[in-house]
Amino acid sequence: MGISRGAPERWGLGRVSGVVWETSPAGVTCRLATDRRVGYAVHHVRHCCFAEDNGIVVSVLGECPVLAVVDGNIQRIYGYRMQEYFERHLNLRAWVTLDVSERMKTLGTVERLCATAQEVGLPRTGIFVGIGGGVLLDIVGFASSMFRRGVRFVKIPTTLVGLVDVGVGIKQGVNFGNSKNLVGAFYPPLATIADRTFLATLDARQIRCGVAEILKMALVRDGRLFRALEEHAGELVRSNFARPHEVADDVMTTAAADMMDELCPNLFEEDLRRLVDFGHSFSPTIEAHSEYRIAHGEAVALDMLLSCLLAVHRGKFTEEDLARVVATYESAGLPFWMSDCPSETELYEGLAEIRAHRGGRLNLVLPRRIGKGMFVADVTRAEVGRAVGVAREMTGAQARGAEVP
Ligand SMILES: NC(=O)c1ccc[n+]([C@@H]2O[C@H](COP(=O)([O-])OP(=O)(O)OC[C@H]3O[C@@H](n4cnc5c(N)ncnc54)[C@H](O)[C@@H]3O)[C@@H](O)[C@H]2O)c1
Repeated sequence: MGISRGAPERWGLGRVSGVVWETSPAGVTCRLATDRRVGYAVHHVRHCCFAEDNGIVVSVLGECPVLAVVDGNIQRIYGYRMQEYFERHLNLRAWVTLDVSERMKTLGTVERLCATAQEVGLPRTGIFVGIGGGVLLDIVGFASSMFRRGVRFVKIPTTLVGLVDVGVGIKQGVNFGNSKNLVGAFYPPLATIADRTFLATLDARQIRCGVAEILKMALVRDGRLFRALEEHAGELVRSNFARPHEVADDVMTTAAADMMDELCPNLFEEDLRRLVDFGHSFSPTIEAHSEYRIAHGEAVALDMLLSCLLAVHRGKFTEEDLARVVATYESAGLPFWMSDCPSETELYEGLAEIRAHRGGRLNLVLPRRIGKGMFVADVTRAEVGRAVGVAREMTGAQARGAEVP
């Protein structure tokens, strides 16, 4: 694709379908109904999106005024070249570097970005572009949903979690008090540009976090994806998801597409029974309790293992399937348990917040077999305690070099 400046992609704006008047003894009620349409594209590019012969960034942003926000580590590694590209080919209003972390994923940071957008006079037709991992994209996305009550937003994810998960959905948000992602918005991006070349500089721990998010989809939705990880997780992690090349390509595209398939019919979460919540019921408590020393993807991995153990104890998931999950964790280097994890009581009590988030029902996702998930209405404190005990034992056995039970 060559570089050409032109109109940006169309934004999926809603269309008012009508207003209905009703009169009653109490007065007049005007009911407005819209059939708001939402659409956005995830562009999986074959080579560096900032290369001169890859016109995707220019074709998405066109001549619109741009506020680019870049993760501090990305700036240090790629910043100069990217900034120069923006200055040469795009209508760049401001280039902001943010050293982000979960502790900075706050309303204060969102407010500072809005202040910068105001200072540079970003108009309603402006676009926020986020270039970084999930933390940066969540912050920038939320700022874009608030600034002038919403300006467009383009995501350029640079982590594996970003490529297969954050980059494909519409949720933006930040932590609030001691709660993960408590405030935010459903706010569709204009587009996502998924460029895997960024993975070359990501550290192994972050690659493993991405594997956890891929396993989430594989375990409850896609047995074929699980088998690919089962066979290749070790090499994929060691090679920063570069080898085996075709498997890496297929796994990333499939995981992102599975996620989109799952989100699409329920994009605004009217239905609070969501398979994509697998691994996300205990994990917010784990992350917050560790004061974010445990990374998001690690917390998801710990949560998924607890969920598999709960399912085994209920006789819903076989020991053979559990053994396959454990072997895949071992080859990917995913944790069974970590020293910063909360107690079983805290884990159990943390489910109250999840229940509130899911409209009063826990809707806990457990695997039924590999590639198939199910929902359970509740779980007891004793069940959580037993699962935690087994996960601890597994870590102990691994540390002793013994066979993991
Ligand atoms: N909105 C959503 O739908 C959604 C979905 C999943 C996760 N999340 C959120 O995403 C966050 C986790 O995101 P993450 O796992 O991407 O972590 P992250 O954003 O914290 O990035 C991890 C680390 O990698 C660095 N980094 C990023 N790209 C790099 C690269 N290419 N080379 C070298 N270093 C690089 C970052 O600076 C950071 O230090 C959590 O806050 C989670 O809640 C949001």
